[in-house]
Amino acid sequence: MHLSRLQLTDFRSYPRLDLEFGPGATALVGFNGVGKTNIVEALGYFATLSSHRVATDGQLLRTGADAAYIRGEFARHTQRLSLELELIPGKSNRARINRANPVRAREVLGLIKTVLFAPEDLSLIKGDPSVRRRYLDEVLAQETPANAATAADYERVLKQRNALLKSARGSGRFTEGHRATLEAWNEQLIGLGIALTRARAELAHTLAPFVAESYRGLTDGAKPADIVYISSILGSDFADEMNDGDASAAPASAPAAARDFSDEELEVAFRKRLEEVQGKEVERGISLVGPHRDDVAINLAGTRARGFASHGETWSLALSLRLAALEHMRSLDPRDGMSPILILDDVLAELDRKRRDKLTALIRDVEQVIITAAVREDVPEALGARIIEVTPGEAKVVDDEP
Ligand SMILES: Nc1ncnc2c1ncn2[C@@H]1O[C@H](COP(=O)(O)OP(=O)(O)O)[C@@H](O)[C@H]1O
Ligand SMILES: [Mg+2]
Repeated sequence: MHLSRLQLTDFRSYPRLDLEFGPGATALVGFNGVGKTNIVEALGYFATLSSHRVATDGQLLRTGADAAYIRGEFARHTQRLSLELELIPGKSNRARINRANPVRAREVLGLIKTVLFAPEDLSLIKGDPSVRRRYLDEVLAQETPANAATAADYERVLKQRNALLKSARGSGRFTEGHRATLEAWNEQLIGLGIALTRARAELAHTLAPFVAESYRGLTDGAKPADIVYISSILGSDFADEMNDGDASAAPASAPAAARDFSDEELEVAFRKRLEEVQGKEVERGISLVGPHRDDVAINLAGTRARGFASHGETWSLALSLRLAALEHMRSLDPRDGMSPILILDDVLAELDRKRRDKLTALIRDVEQVIITAAVREDVPEALGARIIEVTPGEAKVVDDEP
């Protein structure tokens, strides 16, 4: 699948933008702050219905505008798909698919797949576990919208369970009424929590060899890279004490992998953990066990990369995680034309010549790659990229002949 046209209205720095794209590589070239990332951010929004840079939509509207529109035309084999997203703060976003009547934006999920790498992704390695959970959840949501529904249901139950714990804490005593309500929420937390844990643990397991391969491809291959899902359901007391129940404190060689357990076994473990932490949960007014406390261990030569990997290694690892997601999504059905669009924002300047060449080799056969760079010299010749020059508020093709 590839993007053939992108139109923006009052999105970020663009009052209007109308750009044509083609398959293969396209490079958006322009100085810092001219609006390159704004363009790829809009494209990424079709796939995830969120921005990789901000948590809420408000900042996506051009300053002073009441609404923003992102329109995209996509080609998949001989099929054409036209999408329009309307962003109005305070209202739920709407979408028009192939110019039909507006529907909820959520209907768009799964129609477009993108994998976006941006400098912010260094936090995949250095940041909080929430960043790594989101990495998995984004791939899961693109695989099947049902996964997104499970994650959303879990979030909803978690919020309500937290509200109960908070109110119990506020009232100063844990009543029978609190207990009964908590038990009801526990049932939902366990059911949805196990489904989410299983989906993420399976995905991490599937991604691991792709991560290793991409990392090997980007570096000299001296240090093997690996990822492992760490479930707080199986969390050790060590993690509990060291980091407020946060599984990220668990050692690199996690004692147990969630995917080695049946649902029944996970359920037993989850119940046991909930009993263990109940006192603490009431005391703090917050849920301490479940997939919202999980992490993904990212290891380099068997050691947790967080706080250990060098800048270059961190960069290559983060990029490997995204490339792994791409390869995984491509492998799901190599012929269905749903190969994700690869977006590489500001990655080239950080890579030395050797790694640039290696990256070029890794992505050469991707159906569509959109890359941003400050200067044309940073775009490897071998990519054969079509160049789009971006100047403030404007973008135009300067070279149609690769
Ligand atoms: N909501 C907005 N309204 C108007 N301008 C915006 C908005 N958000 C960002 N900008 C402007 O967009 C520019 C940054 O664009 P960006 O795409 O990040 O640049 P780069 O080319 O470096 O990737 C800045 O000049 C910023 O002021
Ligand atoms: Mg940028």
